[in-house]
Amino acid sequence: MTDTAELLRKANDLNSPNYAPAPIIFDRGQGVRLFDTEGKEYLDFVAGIAVCALGHAHPTLTDALRDQAGRLLHVSNLFYTAEQIALMEALVEQSFADRVFFCNSGAEANEAAIKLARRYQKVVAGRADKSGIVTMTHSFHGRTLAAITATGQPKYHEGFEPLVPGFSYVPFNDLDALRQAVGRDTAAVMVEPVQGEGGVRPADAAYLKAVREICDKHGALLIFDEVQTGVGRTGSLFAYQHYGVTPDIMSLAKGLGGGVPLGATLASEKAWAGWTRGSHASTFGGNPLATRAGHTVLEVIARDGLLENARARGERLQAGLRRLAERFEVITEVRGLGLMIGAECKGDAASTIATAARDEGLLINTAGGNTLRFVPPLIITDADVDEALERLERAIEKVAS
Ligand SMILES: Cc1ncc(COP(=O)(O)O)c(C=O)c1O
Repeated sequence: MTDTAELLRKANDLNSPNYAPAPIIFDRGQGVRLFDTEGKEYLDFVAGIAVCALGHAHPTLTDALRDQAGRLLHVSNLFYTAEQIALMEALVEQSFADRVFFCNSGAEANEAAIKLARRYQKVVAGRADKSGIVTMTHSFHGRTLAAITATGQPKYHEGFEPLVPGFSYVPFNDLDALRQAVGRDTAAVMVEPVQGEGGVRPADAAYLKAVREICDKHGALLIFDEVQTGVGRTGSLFAYQHYGVTPDIMSLAKGLGGGVPLGATLASEKAWAGWTRGSHASTFGGNPLATRAGHTVLEVIARDGLLENARARGERLQAGLRRLAERFEVITEVRGLGLMIGAECKGDAASTIATAARDEGLLINTAGGNTLRFVPPLIITDADVDEALERLERAIEKVAS
């Protein structure tokens, strides 16, 4: 028998102090559901923070990983594997990109994107001084030093200064501010098509189109951080396709490996022109286990119509949340795209509601401080959505009615 209390005590003593996990130990998952060591069942609308695109223990992914683990786990980037080539080919075929760099996380994918943009300006455009990176307030790009510098939220910078030079920030969805900030010295503009951690805020369609135009006017590259929005989350394979605005560089991670750590930086041939042998590297990046996972995730998304599913189930979830917003005035706004949905709450009610929802067997988390974030697996059914809404309703009745 697992002694949950004893395990939690150990975890508190041993875990690094930057996390504050809920007092739950998960034991197994099945589809959209997780089960803890006490046998309690939860509907998982966190999905490992928008990672488990196929849910838990998906039979196709599980079989592929079992097979791969028994054959070949890792060889390094001194050599190729068929799995890596297959995923590069699938990503290039299904996106604007011409080439792919693999890494292990979103922060690393953004780090590579920033290095790619700066190197392009220096080596290809011949502009060593054109190194500025403009990003948005309330953005989130990860926790490496360049990625936190890119992150337009001062709370993530505190205590880690000096930051990486050359970054500036403009309010999201504010075109005038961007026009003023981008100029001769701008290497790239970096933006999430839908801000995730900042509170699930979709970019305005006209805004993203104009961002592209401003970049072109000043010879700056456009980087889309699709770490959270990518791989079907918003109901198109990549959010840029929904907006009809093509970046030069795109970062991916989260859903790409379906739970196996995998990040990728994709870019057009033009943007890659600055990188030569040795410009960048990652020991684990693109290993056969991770890329087999990534390729399987893309195959299952196409085979099972999961983009259409994300759109339809996302609409149902948004409609249900709007009904709750009519009944409970604590919910002030519902917004999102596909299965990336936020419900903004009054004051600091969001975290109280998220905790109450957990007690009711629904896992959700907060983003932007006051917004409930719903990022369930792309495989969810109407019944899962309805059950989640019932559990949420009970939670709100308890704490905020
Ligand atoms: C848009 C975006 N970019 C980058 C990251 C960082 O990803 P990782 O935690 O895998 O480094 C995140 C993580 O939440 C994210 O949402």
